[in-house]
Amino acid sequence: MDPMATLTTTVNGREERLEVEPLEKLMDTLRNRLHLRGTKEGCREGECGACTVLVDGMPVNSCIYAAMQAQGRRIETIEGLDDALTRAVQDAIVACGGVQCGYCTPGFVVMITALLRRYPDADEALVREALSGNICRCTGYAGIADAVQQVVASNAGRAT
Ligand code: FES
Ligand code: FES
Repeated sequence: MDPMATLTTTVNGREERLEVEPLEKLMDTLRNRLHLRGTKEGCREGECGACTVLVDGMPVNSCIYAAMQAQGRRIETIEGLDDALTRAVQDAIVACGGVQCGYCTPGFVVMITALLRRYPDADEALVREALSGNICRCTGYAGIADAVQQVVASNAGRAT
């Protein structure tokens, strides 16, 4: 058996030092070692976006991202995103009917937060492109897309 590797990283503002399998995926580290279960396990193949987290502000599919790639980096999960922008995104998704079973929702919220931090004025085409890697089996996407445009229109994207 391979020896464990030592991962030092910051998760939601807190420094963590963890022993991980050398090829362990970040999703498993977050869910199983840190018990951050808001990061959802879907396809495990990088296709559905349910496991999206931010590494140094950039969205990654944590099911195909080696935990050791996060060495020295800053990870944000849905549990750590409690700024005004993320709250506006969550409220808008609920108000626009963009959530049903909710399994995909954390991944969408993380991805939309990353998008609007960078592009507070994101237009529909940019939103569609940004969300193309996130799958929702329930809502048909219209409510989620409407929610993003609602946040953009309210200027909440500039609040943080
Ligand atoms: S579980 Fe990671 S992309 Fe589907
Ligand atoms: S709300 Fe059920 S998968 Fe999106």
